[in-house]
Amino acid sequence: MKKYYIRTFGCQMNVNDSQKMAGILKSLGYEPARDWEEADVILVNTCSVREKPDQKVLSALGEFKKIKNKNPDAIIGVCGCLAQRAGYEILQKAPFIDMVFGTTNIHHLPQLLKEAEAGNKAVEIIEDIDANETELDKYPTVRDNKYTAYVTIIRGCDKKCTYCIVPYTRGKERSRRIGEILQEVQWLVEDGVKEIHLIGQNVTAYGKDLGDVKFYELLYAVANIDGVERIRFTTGHPRDLDEDTIKAMAEIPQVCEYLHLPIQAGSDKILKAMDRGYTQKEYLHKIELLKKYIPNIALSTDIIVGFPGETYEDYLETIKVLKEVEYDQVFAFKYSPRPGTPAAEMRMTEKPETVSKWLNDLINLQKDISFKKNREYENKIVEVLVEEEKDGKFVGRTRTNKLVHFESRHNLLGEIINLKISKANRFSLEGELAEELV
Ligand code: 5AD
Ligand code: SF4
Repeated sequence: MKKYYIRTFGCQMNVNDSQKMAGILKSLGYEPARDWEEADVILVNTCSVREKPDQKVLSALGEFKKIKNKNPDAIIGVCGCLAQRAGYEILQKAPFIDMVFGTTNIHHLPQLLKEAEAGNKAVEIIEDIDANETELDKYPTVRDNKYTAYVTIIRGCDKKCTYCIVPYTRGKERSRRIGEILQEVQWLVEDGVKEIHLIGQNVTAYGKDLGDVKFYELLYAVANIDGVERIRFTTGHPRDLDEDTIKAMAEIPQVCEYLHLPIQAGSDKILKAMDRGYTQKEYLHKIELLKKYIPNIALSTDIIVGFPGETYEDYLETIKVLKEVEYDQVFAFKYSPRPGTPAAEMRMTEKPETVSKWLNDLINLQKDISFKKNREYENKIVEVLVEEEKDGKFVGRTRTNKLVHFESRHNLLGEIINLKISKANRFSLEGELAEELV
């Protein structure tokens, strides 16, 4: 049997695309390789959101070149956001690559593979969105985790934040038809999935292009499917997160008490330069509503430090928000100019060393806040979905998205159980089963 190996960079959309590609390869009779050295097909699913992932991809390609010397018949393909943006450049830099395809051409993998196997360069990067891109939805995913699954509900993004490459690599917003989404959820549940994770670059914009359905209505519809025990969604945009959605989150028992709501910056001046479409006050009002309707909600966010024009005073506004909201988790990045975006034309104002120090200080502050939030769980009973067994311990997630490690003599994989939290670590929790189970 032929074997495949897929290396994935970037966000949940890329992870889901890789799971679909694995599904396509499975349908062609391939099985997963333990590592890339024994693979007949190697796919590198790339990200281009910052310069660092770009570089990581290019250095990974260097590694994969070695396999061509060992196994000249192995087919190497590059796809994802960097391929969409700079596929031809990649081919020039790494001529040993056999296949390059864009973010909306994934369903053509079977034909591309045939072409490459015949010894030709198989390249398909179209600038426009492939008219038949939803063909991809027909393939089942191959997932590491049996009990939780991503479901794409919307592709692309219309927001045009001035720093962001996504509208250029993933195109405009296209919502999937609600019937198709519900059908996929139904199949997943029949396959043993308990937690449905709805994904998209901007899920809160779901339905705007369809006109007859809203995001919160989709939440109710998914919750109505028998067997859906938990619902999550990523990523929401603060501008589109309305009170109807927040109410639905509070009202639907399966929607987990967790939300990732990127703020990016605390200063109104910088938010405007980023074209985020909200002020700090408007953002904080949404957080207030979330905490009012869902008092035990856990929150996370994304921050960019060092955007062009950001002064120390602007940066302190971000710090102020972090202290006020007390996020459970913060993903903070140094601003990275992306080719072709409006911000790339703006003048960088701070020295890189200064921005690095700001970023470090911010991360250190947040470490303490995250630890404090985790300690609030000690001695509490929490509901956990047991996802995997690792090094003799079970690992699960709370509804608030915290990882919990615990021991048991019973096989509890896939179960939703109650655990008492015995210890909080900085990035995870440790738990104990209720007496009667052990
Ligand atoms: N520079 C730095 N960070 C960026 N992000 C997106 N574009 C850039 C950029 N040009 C961050 C944002 C986004 C996350 C996925 O990546 O915080 O929410
Ligand atoms: Fe990276 Fe953005 Fe593409 Fe996701 S959509 S893979 S974060 S560039």
